[in-house]
Amino acid sequence: MVKLIGINKINIAVFISGKGSNLKSLIEYSKNKKSTFKVDLVLSDKKAPGLKYAKRYNIDFSIINYSKKYKAEKFALKLLKKKKINLICFAGFMRIISNKFLKEFNGKILNIHPSLLPKYKGLNTHEKVIKNKENYSGCTVHLVNSRLDSGKIIMQKKVKVFRNDTPVSLKKRILQYEHKLYPKAISKFIANF
Ligand code: GAR
Repeated sequence: MVKLIGINKINIAVFISGKGSNLKSLIEYSKNKKSTFKVDLVLSDKKAPGLKYAKRYNIDFSIINYSKKYKAEKFALKLLKKKKINLICFAGFMRIISNKFLKEFNGKILNIHPSLLPKYKGLNTHEKVIKNKENYSGCTVHLVNSRLDSGKIIMQKKVKVFRNDTPVSLKKRILQYEHKLYPKAISKFIANF
């Protein structure tokens, strides 16, 4: 935790695998004086395009080779401890973590998922929503537990699905809401730290 004139900022690490638009929104939000968290580390399981935001904002980052999961997680934990990370936020991180890793950060890992959980866990969410002719979808920030997309829900945003939506148009629109929801949900969550 970083002490700033009367305010305790929570150090967060953001894990990504892809474009990193959520990472960007979290970093930008955290630059606000009122933010109660600071993005202090970015970890990725590949050379993800989103790493450009860590570089742009001068945030420590590391690419972790997940071909050997045990070794990868051991290395990640070492970095997280070195940086005194208080909270992990998955933002498009497409790996399942081990129970051992989970135990080390139990109750301190959040994820954002592009559906109204508990509906549409897992992959290809938008395709399934369109196929099932749902009127609403959305996004959810939840705690990570040992079951996929099943931890306690912190916050959700309901988003209308239009008749002419495609998985691509729906994904794009929901992503805009994710960018607003994630910083809000993190702030709410750490208010109870
Ligand atoms: C986001 O839509 C996020 O909700 C989703 O991946 C996208 C990452 O976009 N996550 C999952 O599907 C996890 N199950 P980004 O890299 O631009 O932030």
